[in-house]
Amino acid sequence: MLKGKKILLGISGSIAAYKSVILLRLLIKAGAEVKVVMTASAKQFVAPLTLSTLSKNEVLSELSDNDSWSNHVMLGRWADIMVIAPLSCNTLSKMSTGLCDNLLMAVYLSAICPVVVAPAMDEDMWNHATTKDNLKKILSNGNSIIPVEEGELASGLIGPGRMAEPESIIIWLQEYFLEKKSFVGKKILITAGPTHEAIDPVRFIGNHSSGKMGIAVAEEFLKRGADVTLVCGPTSEIIPPGVHVVNVVSAAQMYDACIKEFADANIAVMCAAVADYTITNIADKKIKKDDGKLLLELEKTKDILQSLGASKKEKQFLVGFALETNNEKENALKKLTAKNADMIVLNSLNDSGAGFQHPTNKITIFDKSGKEYEFDTKLKVAVAADIVNTIHQLYNA
Ligand code: CTP
Repeated sequence: MLKGKKILLGISGSIAAYKSVILLRLLIKAGAEVKVVMTASAKQFVAPLTLSTLSKNEVLSELSDNDSWSNHVMLGRWADIMVIAPLSCNTLSKMSTGLCDNLLMAVYLSAICPVVVAPAMDEDMWNHATTKDNLKKILSNGNSIIPVEEGELASGLIGPGRMAEPESIIIWLQEYFLEKKSFVGKKILITAGPTHEAIDPVRFIGNHSSGKMGIAVAEEFLKRGADVTLVCGPTSEIIPPGVHVVNVVSAAQMYDACIKEFADANIAVMCAAVADYTITNIADKKIKKDDGKLLLELEKTKDILQSLGASKKEKQFLVGFALETNNEKENALKKLTAKNADMIVLNSLNDSGAGFQHPTNKITIFDKSGKEYEFDTKLKVAVAADIVNTIHQLYNA
């Protein structure tokens, strides 16, 4: 499972750094290619020579030395995953605030690969409210955390704070790469963005949706090996290469595209903010202003999610979103049933950091049995991982 995987091992200053030597050896034995980046204080615990000998790669720790410059951007692009083990309290705090004062932090901040950390600290530091806040922050930024273990600590105390054993980290990584492939061979249909309903050749009725959430879900499925089709309304967001994009403008175009693409899809996730009403008669020339009022006649659009729910085959899994401002849970559950979805993702505009235009979102998921899955406010990329994890769990149940 780890054969050929490119792993960037970050080591920060903690006595648990000695376990990183074992971790490195296990990774190499499993066939992974490993490059090591360490902080200056980590060098007090393990010698770079040990790590370079085991990894057969130069160990990097300085942003630059006298005559060369370490390319932190390329390291972050090279890796399939960055594993920071051990993660000291100090490096955790830098990760949470973005303090870039060494190579490890520069690589972390420019890494486009997923990052997982294995914290190591003494019990009291581990239990400190600031540590908890910092962990929450890095989780919400999309990082994963391998839980600490309980046992004897460097201080002699017995309690939580020990870095996970190298064998546990290997198991975590094996499961991670297995899960990453969990949607191979599956076609996923996703809608994203707003729709624009034309009034005349220069005006339209739209909404504030940016498309960020749907695009993040598309990217997450792509990472897990799926064949992803994104039916996307007007957006200025960048769509990751590898996603099949069907660009649409109006709700009617989005409907037609979804009906066509759903026929052979395994899973559909309806993230788009589709207009509920469209103009009955679109003017073919620009409407000129006059002294009176302008009345627009609107008619209902077709509900895409509901139509897919009505035609859904037994093996197809359908996910809806519910954007609510009041009676959130009640309304979300109503939509789940009325539209025959298998799962609904609720976001409430009453939660700070949730909804349109924000880089973050706060969601609660409900499944068909009414079971509730609650999540913290997170960056939309991290929210996308939660959504895809929950789909994975329910789809395979
Ligand atoms: N939806 C859809 N087609 C529509 C309207 C909504 O597919 N014409 C989908 C959305 O993509 C979302 C779900 O239905 O997955 C719920 O959308 P939302 O706007 O929250 O609710 P509506 O059903 O439009 O109801 P209301 O606006 O009254 O809350």
